[in-house]
Amino acid sequence: MAEDLVLIEGSRAEKYANILPQIENLLAGETDKYANLANISAALFQSFRFFWIGFYLVKEGQLVLGPFQGPVACTRIPFHKGVCGYAYTTAETIIVPNVDEFPGHIACASASRSEIVLPAKNNNGEVLLVLDIDSDQLNDFSEVDKEGLEKIIDLIENNWNNWI
Ligand code: SME
Repeated sequence: MAEDLVLIEGSRAEKYANILPQIENLLAGETDKYANLANISAALFQSFRFFWIGFYLVKEGQLVLGPFQGPVACTRIPFHKGVCGYAYTTAETIIVPNVDEFPGHIACASASRSEIVLPAKNNNGEVLLVLDIDSDQLNDFSEVDKEGLEKIIDLIENNWNNWI
């Protein structure tokens, strides 16, 4: 049962520490993957007010838009295209400090300036989805975001097989 989130002022690291257990609570007992991904994106959006946050799921041989918060976005991304495609292909987190300097960046919104994309994988190392976060500020993402968001990715990976 969802309740209001408790949000704090503070550094990004403090905000990640604050929101992670609340996201765990939101997921507890719910097995619908879209419901859970929707609540994760909403909780992160409420905490950080990112410009855009959402998921692209591996589906039908491409990355297909899933639950998100922010402006409307591209619905389908080929595996080899854009920052999301790079994270899919390498199966590694990528931080792009300036999207204009990333060859092949897909500009879903012209206001996007920097970006972080993290893949979630199954036990065989195959990418299941990517978490994509865009900022309207240059150089907005650091190792702090990578560490905080990788804990969310761990939650998704550990629960995925129980989700329908
Ligand atoms: N910029 C991404 C596309 C997705 S949108 O930012 C929501 C990319 O280059 O993969």
